[in-house]
Amino acid sequence: MANASIGSVVSVRGSVIDVRFEEHLPPIYSLLRAGNDGRIVIEVLAQLDSHRVRGIALTPTQGLARGAVVEDTGGPLKVPVGKGILSRMFDVFGNALDREGEVSDVEWRTVHRAPPPLSRRSTKSEVFETGIKVIDVLMPLERGGKAGLFGGAGVGKTVLLTEMIHNMIGHHEGVSLFCGIGERCREGEELYREMKAAGVLPHMVMVFGQMNEPPGARFRVGHAALAMAEYFRDEEHRDVLLLIDNIFRFIQAGMEVSGLMGQMPSRLGYQPTMSTELSRLEERIANTDTGAITSIQAVYVPADDFTDPAAVHTFSHLSASIVLSRKRASEGLYPAIDPLQSNSKMATPGIVGARHYNLALEIRRTLAQYAQLKDIIAMLGLEQLSPEDRNVVARARRLERFFTQPFFTTEQFTGLKGKLVSLKDALDGCERILRDEFKDYPESALYMIGAIDEAKGKAKPGQPSTSAEPTSTSEAKADPKPAADSNRNAKSEPHTKPGEKPRAKVQQAADTHEP
Ligand SMILES: Nc1ncnc2c1ncn2[C@@H]1O[C@H](COP(=O)(O)OP(=O)(O)O)[C@@H](O)[C@H]1O
Ligand SMILES: [Mg+2]
Repeated sequence: MANASIGSVVSVRGSVIDVRFEEHLPPIYSLLRAGNDGRIVIEVLAQLDSHRVRGIALTPTQGLARGAVVEDTGGPLKVPVGKGILSRMFDVFGNALDREGEVSDVEWRTVHRAPPPLSRRSTKSEVFETGIKVIDVLMPLERGGKAGLFGGAGVGKTVLLTEMIHNMIGHHEGVSLFCGIGERCREGEELYREMKAAGVLPHMVMVFGQMNEPPGARFRVGHAALAMAEYFRDEEHRDVLLLIDNIFRFIQAGMEVSGLMGQMPSRLGYQPTMSTELSRLEERIANTDTGAITSIQAVYVPADDFTDPAAVHTFSHLSASIVLSRKRASEGLYPAIDPLQSNSKMATPGIVGARHYNLALEIRRTLAQYAQLKDIIAMLGLEQLSPEDRNVVARARRLERFFTQPFFTTEQFTGLKGKLVSLKDALDGCERILRDEFKDYPESALYMIGAIDEAKGKAKPGQPSTSAEPTSTSEAKADPKPAADSNRNAKSEPHTKPGEKPRAKVQQAADTHEP
């Protein structure tokens, strides 16, 4: 009887292991162990025939050979849940990574659970303030909603996510759960230290399956994090803030697993089951009458292509999408959020109120008009615009500057003190810019400030502003020219012919459009 759960390895191909069981075939999702002390962990993903199962290793498989003994643990992958996991850092198996010893006061639960049924779900529409101006004004996040931070490599997804953790965790009463999927290990370690230093670790749990781990582990770490989040929601009735960096790596891990299992790839090499896999995970991030899971997910967009199937599928699960643009990052307009591509379903008059809604509409309209005028300005120069259009350009550029914000998490390398801005201050600032109150101020006065009143401290109307510009690392320091100077500047600018690139992109963006 004892050996009903013992099988032997039939084949090893990288992470794919076939195992033969003579008496009892382990069901799908069973966890098998092999090697010294069960060091090698395998999850069953398919039953090939009445005696063989095929699984994927969640650990490296070095040393595993044909004929090796495999033991069926009789259950699926489990992680610890309970009060004891707070302030701890785990891997996908629930092993503590923080050298703080064994976890105590926990119970082990399967990572595979079904989403809550429709009848248990709840919806309430409440705005979740982040203290980041452009997000709170134009794409307010939803308490209990899912927000995505989309962007290619190095446009600031992780920085923005970390800043949100920093801003929200202090006044978020619930539990925060950070799940690192397939990103750099260093980032996890840094975050752990930062959170420890900030004193918020007692309300936080971290789970990591970073890029050095086998695909199986990266594929399951999201489920592990959700099992923990569900515990806090369902048993402790607390609100959970779930932060994922990066959900694309989950899809990617699924693609690797699918490839290893020999499934036929679908479009662009993605797994045919991508949509189901993603929705199984995303649907578990749900609110019930006992608690809400608010989630913010970074989404890497391969090659900056927003039509990539992975990005498209992720978009459809979210209530707010924040799109980061490389162009803005290169101009030093951090956070590099593209307001015209980002949106939130919360931005309706019924939820945010008529004043906020109308302001947001007007801001979007102004920015959209400016975006349209950019081509004309590039070809004909600013002086060819009607005075009305020139005003639009001036307002839009000032809004763009006002939407930049120094972050707490980037203090070390920008040298600027981080700023948290209330929604009221952010709205007031936008309203006053739209009413042309800052028309005579140099644009630079609005760059990297918090509330709008700081602009008045930074520069006087009509004053040249060279010294007001922060010594940040970004190229944007070349940007704001003295207001008096800029007209001349725009005129002397040679008209750009198609295909011609007279100056560096950043410089051009900075100078040519300046009114
Ligand atoms: N808000 C910001 N302020 C200043 N620099 C930033 C900001 N956001 C991003 N950066 C710069 O961009 C780099 C990459 O950001 P990161 O968040 O790691 O990118 P991603 O996660 O999108 O790959 C940072 O190391 C930093 O130099
Ligand atoms: Mg990142």
